[in-house]
Amino acid sequence: MHYRYLLFLLLLAANSYADDGYRLWLKYDLINDAPQRETYSRSAQFIALTSNTPTLKAAADELQTGLQGLLGKPVPVIANAGNRTGGIILTIRKAQALAKDGYQLSREKGNLVIGGKTDAGVLYGAFALLRQLQTLQPLETLPRTSNPKIQYRLLNHWDNPNGSVERGYAGESLWKWYELPERLDPRYRDYARANASLGINGTVVNNVNASARFLTREYLDKVAALATVFRPYGIRVYLSVYFPAPKVIGGLKTADPLDPEVRKWWADKTKEIYGLIPDFGGYLVKANSEGEPGPQDYNRTHADGANMLAEALKPYDGIVMWRAFVYKADPKADRFKAALEEFGDLDGKFDPKVIVQVKNGPIDFQPREPFSPLFGAMTKTPLSIEFQITQEYMGFATHLVYEAPLFKECLESDTYAKGSPPGAATVAKVVDGSLNNHALSAIAGVANTGSDRNWTGHPMAQANWYAFGRLAWDHTLTSEAIATEWVNMTLTHEPKAVKQITGLMMRSREIYVDYNTPLGLSRPWTGVHFAPEPWQNKSSRPDWTAIYYHRVDSIGLGFDRTATGSNALAQYTPKVRQVWDNADQCPLPYLLWFHHVPWTKKLSTGRTLWDELCTRFYTGADSVSWMQQQWAGVKPAIDPELFANVAGRLATQRKEAIWWRDAWVLYLQPFARQPIPAPFKKPDRSLEDVKRLVDIYQLR
Ligand code: GCU
Repeated sequence: MHYRYLLFLLLLAANSYADDGYRLWLKYDLINDAPQRETYSRSAQFIALTSNTPTLKAAADELQTGLQGLLGKPVPVIANAGNRTGGIILTIRKAQALAKDGYQLSREKGNLVIGGKTDAGVLYGAFALLRQLQTLQPLETLPRTSNPKIQYRLLNHWDNPNGSVERGYAGESLWKWYELPERLDPRYRDYARANASLGINGTVVNNVNASARFLTREYLDKVAALATVFRPYGIRVYLSVYFPAPKVIGGLKTADPLDPEVRKWWADKTKEIYGLIPDFGGYLVKANSEGEPGPQDYNRTHADGANMLAEALKPYDGIVMWRAFVYKADPKADRFKAALEEFGDLDGKFDPKVIVQVKNGPIDFQPREPFSPLFGAMTKTPLSIEFQITQEYMGFATHLVYEAPLFKECLESDTYAKGSPPGAATVAKVVDGSLNNHALSAIAGVANTGSDRNWTGHPMAQANWYAFGRLAWDHTLTSEAIATEWVNMTLTHEPKAVKQITGLMMRSREIYVDYNTPLGLSRPWTGVHFAPEPWQNKSSRPDWTAIYYHRVDSIGLGFDRTATGSNALAQYTPKVRQVWDNADQCPLPYLLWFHHVPWTKKLSTGRTLWDELCTRFYTGADSVSWMQQQWAGVKPAIDPELFANVAGRLATQRKEAIWWRDAWVLYLQPFARQPIPAPFKKPDRSLEDVKRLVDIYQLR
């Protein structure tokens, strides 16, 4: 072949190379700046591995791969540094300042030492070092000691045995149940690497609406196979359990948690699991919730159910995560209050191996919710927080919403529990166990991963997985710092582009709230939870209609949760109540969560409720054009395939934001009986047009 033709082919191949997003934030592309490479290289001439455990080996492998990519040169792994200098030493150490899983980075005798109390700690330190290089930071600014603030940092997968993912928008399940346990998809290891790079140390592999099948020997073998891949990366597997499993697969007549045979069944099953998975993490349970069975079917309490499982786990290092996401179909009740009504009296009655897992808000992963009142009220029980990373209520994988500000808003909310002074009893301090001195602490994120090549469908949704993991390790990190880090590792190093994309991400959630559920509106949907259908008034249960939540009438809008209404506010400590109780002072983001506000009421912005709502809907939808412009502006700095992918999704988001705005204003206007305020223009379609669109989408 003529060499010019060959050159042409090579160039073609190089140009057609595109970033498909598979590598997530672990790209390890060559650092462009040669002097910088040189500086790093001086400290990375070898990797010394003091012992050959699978986790330390994984750490060395990762460093080797990462350094090869970033520095463009092979870095040998050796057994012993001897007198050599200029290398990286991986070692276990007993430093006082180190917590389990923590790591310490130090310069010792001309080498960079990554120390951990555990193998996993060393692995996390290796990833921290790589992150420093990936974000082009000087090695001198590496954190000296870093300990996780929360002990159990888990992803919850809502994955089903048939390969589907409940509320998953990135393809099918990552777990190929039909191939397991014999074939191990190489992707399982990459999944583990990505999680370990963030410090995530556990994964619940199946849906909380659990199939009993997962507790059969056949499925346990499959789960055990996954566990072997995850183990070197410090990730333990957990299972969601179907409470009546002793009946369904055990042949017993009952699943009553106080029945001795049932207890024995769970003890035996747990023993079987630990025989197959010695580091099994434990059970996650959704019981007596949304039709799922549970201990109340036998007139027992949530504590009876949870403590039975804790007893089965007693001989092992496993825990029970019992979910507090419960509410009954009572037309007179306020769903907001349901969890505390059921769990409040059980505070202090759970076995020490039980942690109660609470969704961040009282309802269900809305774009904005006040924090769940349980965090301030249940001080005698360790509480885990559950966030939803997958965008069930936030535009699926079509809308760009960076979730770190949502996570932070909740974690930084002040519960004022136990009469604490301001800032001393934040949700974060409840969750990390420090406020109430609990030994157990946990945080869970409902995963947004799937079989799509780029893992999360929307390329920018990778940032939400990333942000969850980083905050699970250290909830004091800022949303902006995490975004900057992620953009640098994943998209570009070009400083102007980094700033622009970070700015876009930081505003994205507020923009979404504005065109979707401004001023504290919530749950305007049923069905697939995509487009608002505020008109929705029919369902098998009252709390599955939209009108139950927004309570529109000719006087105003919003749910009165003060003493004149459902009095849900009484579930919070007096100081919190004070902030939200008075409609004149209640911060606008929470207004309609707690008050039924007259259409004509003047708000702190100087506008009436109706005008303010319209302003939010219209500016929110318009701001998506701003997002598009911001993205268009970074084109030269972004891989073309990735750029086009995000640009396309933003165009859809723009179209849908207008549609969602129209759904709300056209529906509300006949109640408010007021014109759309200038300068905004009345939608050029009718409510019927919009309803038709929603119907089409409900068919998804
Ligand atoms: C939401 C979601 C369900 C899920 C439930 C839960 O209601 O729509 O799919 O099962 O939360 O968290 O249990």
